[in-house]
Amino acid sequence: MRAVLVDSNAAGGFQIGESPEPEPGPNQALVEVRHLSLNFGDLNGARARPDGFVPGWDSSGVIVQPAAVEGSPPAGTRVVTTMLSQGGWAERRTVDFDEIAVVPDNIDLGEAACLPVAGVTALRALRRSGALLGKRVLITGASGGVGHFAVQLAALGGAHVIASVGSEARGEGLRELGAAEVVVGLDGVERPIDVVLDNVGGPQLAAAWRLLGEGGVIQCIGTTSRQDAAFPSLVGMYRRIEAFTKGPSSSADMAYLLRLMGEGKLRVEVGWRGSWSRFAEAAEALNGRRVKGKAILDID
Ligand SMILES: NC(=O)c1ccc[n+]([C@@H]2O[C@H](COP(=O)([O-])OP(=O)(O)OC[C@H]3O[C@@H](n4cnc5c(N)ncnc54)[C@H](OP(=O)(O)O)[C@@H]3O)[C@@H](O)[C@H]2O)c1
Repeated sequence: MRAVLVDSNAAGGFQIGESPEPEPGPNQALVEVRHLSLNFGDLNGARARPDGFVPGWDSSGVIVQPAAVEGSPPAGTRVVTTMLSQGGWAERRTVDFDEIAVVPDNIDLGEAACLPVAGVTALRALRRSGALLGKRVLITGASGGVGHFAVQLAALGGAHVIASVGSEARGEGLRELGAAEVVVGLDGVERPIDVVLDNVGGPQLAAAWRLLGEGGVIQCIGTTSRQDAAFPSLVGMYRRIEAFTKGPSSSADMAYLLRLMGEGKLRVEVGWRGSWSRFAEAAEALNGRRVKGKAILDID
């Protein structure tokens, strides 16, 4: 089958080539992949993988061989899938039965491919932060994949959402999705903040810490800045900083996000979409901070 392969000799580090057919293990289904979405993490983490590795957490498609588990969707079902072990950027993938969600007919299968990592991360990071009604929630890197979902879900949860982006242009559209304030960087953000979802790290994370109020919490999701944070003092008042990780078993949360999409309460912001033959172009756009929301690649 064809797949996106790590190739240290290729420009950008990836190439579409031939890979062995995947063999389903116990409790796994075989899926014919139709669409995939890119994440900052799989794109950049793949550089540490050997040549020939098939990356990709997120893809959607149609079940070819169901998992031998009661309740598994039958052959022909449209599904969204994810695996922490990756392998999603290929014509076929194997996937654990608890990493599959059925995609209703009224939802675009390509847009569904955007939900697993970015959507479930935003959902779980907000849940970890407690009740959101009336809370002041700051989301950094709000222009990205996780950020667009986080803005919408925090607003749905009743929060006053402050979306931090890199430039005014990068913040366009976030108010329509539920942000009460859109700010460039963190200058001018008023204290106290109750919850921070931090996708950027580095000096901005330290600045966010200084904005936290009594009992506030920061979920450290990512470090797109690739910089370390230096904290002046961790004493003085009760507040928390937590290392976040999305973790496995995403079926139920993906199904919940699909339900919100079906009800018109959650949108996938598609910043780039095209054939997977243009993979390098999409990857360059995402790493160059030119994708608002998510990049979708269609397998043709
Ligand atoms: N812990 C977990 O389980 C988990 C799960 C999902 C994602 N993540 C991590 O979370 C982060 C966000 O993921 P994503 O998929 O949303 O990424 P993304 O779509 O690329 O968005 C990240 C945003 O960060 C900002 N950014 C990028 N480079 C930056 C830089 N050098 N300095 C400051 N800001 C920068 C950009 O906003 P502007 O252009 O507006 O500045 C961009 O929109 C990544 O680090 C990812 O690895 C972690």
